[in-house]
Amino acid sequence: MFPNASIGILILALFVTTESADWGYENEKGPDHWADLFPEACAGAKQSPININTEDTVYNPALKDFSVFFDPPLPGSKFYVHNNGHTIQVNTEGKFFVSNGGLTDIYSTAQFHFHWGHKAHHGSEHTLDGAPSPIELHIVNWNSQLYNSIGEAAVEPNGLAVLGMLFEISEEDNPVLEPLVNVLMHVRDPDMKIKAEIPAVSMRAFLPRAADRYYRYNGSLTTPGCFESVVWTVFHEKLTISRRQLHVFRQVLKPSGHHVHKRSTRKHSRSRAVREVFEEIGIEDDKREQARFRRQIVKNTETHVHESLPEDATSHEETMEHHESNHTGSHGHEVKPHTGHHGHNVKPSPISAHPGAHESNMTHAEQVRMMLVNNYRPVQPLNGRVVYRSFPFFNEPINIDTEVVYIDKDNSELARGAATSLVSSAYMCIAIIVAAVLC
Ligand SMILES: *[C@@H]1O[C@H](CO)[C@@H](O)[C@H](O)[C@H]1NC(C)=O
Ligand SMILES: *[C@@H]1O[C@H](CO)[C@@H](O)[C@H](O)[C@H]1NC(C)=O
Ligand SMILES: *[C@@H]1O[C@H](CO)[C@@H](O)[C@H](O)[C@H]1NC(C)=O
Repeated sequence: MFPNASIGILILALFVTTESADWGYENEKGPDHWADLFPEACAGAKQSPININTEDTVYNPALKDFSVFFDPPLPGSKFYVHNNGHTIQVNTEGKFFVSNGGLTDIYSTAQFHFHWGHKAHHGSEHTLDGAPSPIELHIVNWNSQLYNSIGEAAVEPNGLAVLGMLFEISEEDNPVLEPLVNVLMHVRDPDMKIKAEIPAVSMRAFLPRAADRYYRYNGSLTTPGCFESVVWTVFHEKLTISRRQLHVFRQVLKPSGHHVHKRSTRKHSRSRAVREVFEEIGIEDDKREQARFRRQIVKNTETHVHESLPEDATSHEETMEHHESNHTGSHGHEVKPHTGHHGHNVKPSPISAHPGAHESNMTHAEQVRMMLVNNYRPVQPLNGRVVYRSFPFFNEPINIDTEVVYIDKDNSELARGAATSLVSSAYMCIAIIVAAVLC
């Protein structure tokens, strides 16, 4: 299954850890509360994602193009797609590495995954000059030169190097995403633990053409435990995704079924809201999908919030929302619209992943839509961190004294070295010395 047993076990351990830890993108488990749920890490000062204010970034000529290998992948390399309930993740099997790009070590690619949103133009974790993108791809690489496993690397400074790609909507499908998009429906139920295999391709295929134009900063994982072990790269050039492809992503995360509070709405507007949701997620003509979706809502509702279900919740449409109740429930918690206050037990906002959104003036359909598929963490404070830029702005003087030596541009020797041992070969030692000098 995995390149070797220890990596496999550690990757599994990571999954188990993050999946058993109870967190999500909404309500009391949402990003606003991660700092309370995981105070040792998610409350740190170097968290990700961030907004990149391009004017404040600092040009660093030492940040050159990446080396990405193997390209093409070695025979026997595989990609496995699964839905872990928080994201669609593709685990790599085989040897995939990135180096250079201002990284001082060689990093081994473990997996890539996506963050997206439901509302138009929201969904990316990083934002450029305050503007989010509809979806963001993260390629997660671990320092295989200094550490023996991703589990070890994930908690160490410089242990991970994550490459972040933002997307913009295009008319045409992005052919690179097609094999993945084509299997998404097969993995839509995270509980079934389905792994779909797709052909392995070079990671270069997921980088923008101008892979030498990027932003660089020190940050964290964007999901709990939020370890501050990540050297971040966010590329300047965006990749493309068609509306149709984005649509498929938006359908694969389970609705949470958490409270949706809304001042009592008349029946017909509820059905209209439901219809709008079906249209939005592209199942308006598919009765089977609608039934499945409704069952899912009911199931989640029963699981999570049965105590606050209204009496007439047997109607499927009714379960799309809960009447706002101003009673104090049998569990002793008051249920009322989100007030924006933290630190007490009353926080039934379905939209905590979405800064600036207020339940009070959102339409019901908007609330349900947002509840469906957001899986991005809002931007975190920079706290004085510097964001570097690999390319000069127009008219920015370039210091010609800065000579950058590549560690290696090709696939072969270095990758073998990285794969087989830590610093065994003289080649690697030279690479480290060169890297050290560059710092
Ligand atoms: C990241 O942190 C390390 C260690 O503190 C520092 O040497 C490096 O310059 C930082 N990189 C960036 C991009 O800020
Ligand atoms: C609950 O609120 C409704 C209006 O929102 C009001 O008519 C009703 O009296 C309230 N019930 C209680 C118990 O406060
Ligand atoms: C919703 O309310 C917030 C403040 O409560 C306000 O900033 C925002 O503009 C409102 N949005 C709409 C669409 O009315």
